[in-house]
Amino acid sequence: MSKRENFGSKIGAVFATAGSAVGLGNIWRFPIETGRNGGAAFIIIYIACILLIGIPVMMSEFVIGKHTRSNTAGAYQKLAPGTQWKWVGRLGVFAGVLIFSYYSVVAGWTIEYAWLALSNSFLGKTPDEFGKIFAEFSTDPVRPTLWLIVFILLTHYIIVKGVTKGIERWSNVLMPVLLGIITILVVCSALLPNASEGLNFLLKPDFSKVDGKVVLNAMGQAFFSLSLGLGCLCTYASYFEPQTSISKTAIEVCTIDTLIALMAGFIIFPAAAASGYHLQPNDIGPSLIFITLPNVFQMAFHGLPWVAYIFSVMFYILLILAALTSTISMHEIVTSYMTEEFNLPRKKGAVFETGIAIILGTLCALSFGTLGNVHIFGMTIFDLFDWTVSNFCMPLGGMFISIFTGWYLDKKVFRDELTNYGKHGAPYVRGLVFTLRYITPLAIFLIFLNQFGVFNFA
Ligand code: TRP
Repeated sequence: MSKRENFGSKIGAVFATAGSAVGLGNIWRFPIETGRNGGAAFIIIYIACILLIGIPVMMSEFVIGKHTRSNTAGAYQKLAPGTQWKWVGRLGVFAGVLIFSYYSVVAGWTIEYAWLALSNSFLGKTPDEFGKIFAEFSTDPVRPTLWLIVFILLTHYIIVKGVTKGIERWSNVLMPVLLGIITILVVCSALLPNASEGLNFLLKPDFSKVDGKVVLNAMGQAFFSLSLGLGCLCTYASYFEPQTSISKTAIEVCTIDTLIALMAGFIIFPAAAASGYHLQPNDIGPSLIFITLPNVFQMAFHGLPWVAYIFSVMFYILLILAALTSTISMHEIVTSYMTEEFNLPRKKGAVFETGIAIILGTLCALSFGTLGNVHIFGMTIFDLFDWTVSNFCMPLGGMFISIFTGWYLDKKVFRDELTNYGKHGAPYVRGLVFTLRYITPLAIFLIFLNQFGVFNFA
């Protein structure tokens, strides 16, 4: 087998991992969840979830990956040979196939919308027309599938270049551009009339809205946004250089991810306030970014059509970049597994994943139109994939990962990895082990019970 590659620099490792974390989840979900679940109260709960669950699970994945320098399924075989733990890794690979397939559908839609923005097609449209444009596009049998394939091939192109020359090099370009664009958009939004009203709505703490469901939403959001539970972070950590600090990287990645999610809110809410539009609870997910926002941007800058134009173009380019750095990380879970476990050249492993994703992704893309009648367990194919990954594989993976590092893994390995073999202190190790043993699995278990209706939070 050829020599295993590394991220050549610490900053490259941070950009790549933060690139995985920062994705559509930050932009289309976090702001609205915050707005409707009590503003700053939700943000506080979200940050608590990150501290109690996000960072511990992330650090566990980092330890497993960095120590074994292996894909996620191989990692468990190295740390727990002859046991069934390998299924935790395999579950991640399975979920990686699913998530890459359906996420790429929406990623493909962002290209269509960047194109619509670029060709100035939003100018003068009414809200109804925006709804119609999206309904016609998403149910079309051809265009969404073509964009899906384009997006998958774009990801494939970066993946086959390798870890250093592909993932790292591209992350080092895409992430700074993404940060630049999002900063410009935040500033533009802040200059709009009534901007403070929008921010007020986003940030005003309202603890009366907080109940068990809100806490569960915050936990689910943290999982998805930080790319937890599927071995994605484990795979990336297997490329960390020996001197990369696990705790520092985890804190940096979580900080960047949370800041970008907040910044997305700082773009969306002032623009909505300036346009006079009141965001509704169902303005979440695709309908937010493909129906509500193009309209909001037109109305917010109505006297300045060219500003609306540039703003919209930049916003959809931002979405493409955010989605791309995430799809790369999803693809890599499977490619590294195929390459290492089946001894294939990287290119062949990547072609395998790309091929499956094109087939499954096409089914997902068509499930909005042509295959809209196909229901499995009462869900369309797209929804079934999303449900399986978000509500099942992610929490289950996260729970087993924390049980694995909390209970099974040799604590010397854990400590060695966290202190970089004694090079720096890690006074938090005891607290972390306690959290991984008791708090994290229990919290996730509650998500499950609630999800499957064993009991219901108010
Ligand atoms: N975190 C990404 C987002 O917010 C999604 C994502 C990328 C992901 N890679 C992942 C989720 C791996 C779970 C596992 O959009």
